[in-house]
Amino acid sequence: ENIPLEMHKVRIVQKLNLPPVEDRVAAIREAGFNTFLLKNEDVYMDMLTDSGVNAMSDRQQASMLEADDSYAGSATFTRLSNKLTELFGTKYFLPTHQGRACENIISQVLVKPGQTVPMNYHFTTSKAHITVNGGTVEEVFKDEALNLNSEDLFKGNMDIEKLTTLIEERGAENIAFVRVESGTNLIGGQPHSVENLKEVRAVCDKYNLKLVYDISLLADNLYFIKQREDAYKEKSIREITRELADQAHILYFSARKLGFARGGGIITNSEEDYLAMREFITLYEGFLTYGGMSVREMEAITVGLDETMDEQYISQGPEFIKFMSDELQKKGVPVVLPAGGLGCHIDASKFLEHVRQTDYPAGALAAAIYIASGARGMERGTMSEQRDENGVETLAHMELVRMAMPRRVFTLSQVKYAVDRIAWLYDNRELIGGMEFVEEPKVLRFFFGKLEAK
Ligand code: F0G
Repeated sequence: ENIPLEMHKVRIVQKLNLPPVEDRVAAIREAGFNTFLLKNEDVYMDMLTDSGVNAMSDRQQASMLEADDSYAGSATFTRLSNKLTELFGTKYFLPTHQGRACENIISQVLVKPGQTVPMNYHFTTSKAHITVNGGTVEEVFKDEALNLNSEDLFKGNMDIEKLTTLIEERGAENIAFVRVESGTNLIGGQPHSVENLKEVRAVCDKYNLKLVYDISLLADNLYFIKQREDAYKEKSIREITRELADQAHILYFSARKLGFARGGGIITNSEEDYLAMREFITLYEGFLTYGGMSVREMEAITVGLDETMDEQYISQGPEFIKFMSDELQKKGVPVVLPAGGLGCHIDASKFLEHVRQTDYPAGALAAAIYIASGARGMERGTMSEQRDENGVETLAHMELVRMAMPRRVFTLSQVKYAVDRIAWLYDNRELIGGMEFVEEPKVLRFFFGKLEAK
């Protein structure tokens, strides 16, 4: 048997609660059938996200005691800044409170109304910040990216031909920048290759465009490059990281994902970009040497980034995700293949063929999984889109429920329990119907909108 092995042991535990099914029904009803609105005390396995909920190591915890509290110029900031320079080769670091704060600042500085941002795939918050600044998003993924049952090992790759055609059609002056997302979140945590990022950079050079690289999910992507890209099998994680970072003009990250802690930042070698963005840090985030983060978290990120260079640490997530996806597949449950990073992704449109896409099958399935198991995942489908300017639904390319795998958090028996419950639900899927909004926020509605059974 292929058993994924944890290369760590558990030394601190948190007691969990598994409420009886009647209480789970009451809780999800109270939450407007939106798993974001559940109270965590009503949740057995919190698989909503891997954001800010990864387990810290003993080294991270220890480092937090050494934090140097200072509004300006703390030694903690210097340590984090130096670590970023060491790993990514970048000179300038702008700290932020989390990833979307980077997106806010990058979009305010670089996006002019009417401009387009081509990307391998959008992320909810990145798209929201670009559109709020009058820009539009164009996804230039390859067709295979949307194939949920694929053997393509790099579904996150950008389609270079589509990228070039788009730039030619719109004119380079109407392109704000090109964005590549590592570990492409919304298509199931799918990686891109080093080779592809280099090709994207070559196109950017040809048209004199900036390449902005979202490395929030870099850890998984590094693991997949090492496993799957022939030219990099013998390279160290550190070498691969540097080679990727060298391609981008501006990099940014959510340290709620990258670095096993909470925070974020923008890094670059361009003095001009650094200066253009700097004032926004003091305007929105805090002073330049903390940017909204606590010094304790900054210490934990510094150590967490170092741990991200350890293949044994970064393999845990993808290996558990593969285990969960394989086990579900064996029981007939439709999952995204190949298994990616971030979490196990269930194909809700296949799971619930009888629910129309406009009735939010992925949202309904996420609510039903909570009722059946006490585990909560996240809707990643049409509910996570926003209506167009005429109020018409934007149908998502795919209807997914993401069961995120926070790193170093769950045991294999917990994963097996989730598999067992989801497989039961699949055998009883006719119990699940569609939903409609009863409270629908205009922006990022999936976060706090409420629904009921249709
Ligand atoms: N970019 C990517 C690829 C992300 O996955 C996220 C967050 C962000 C940017 C924004 O970062 O949350 O720190 O502001 N993803 C979380 C998730 C929310 O659950 O997938 P943030």
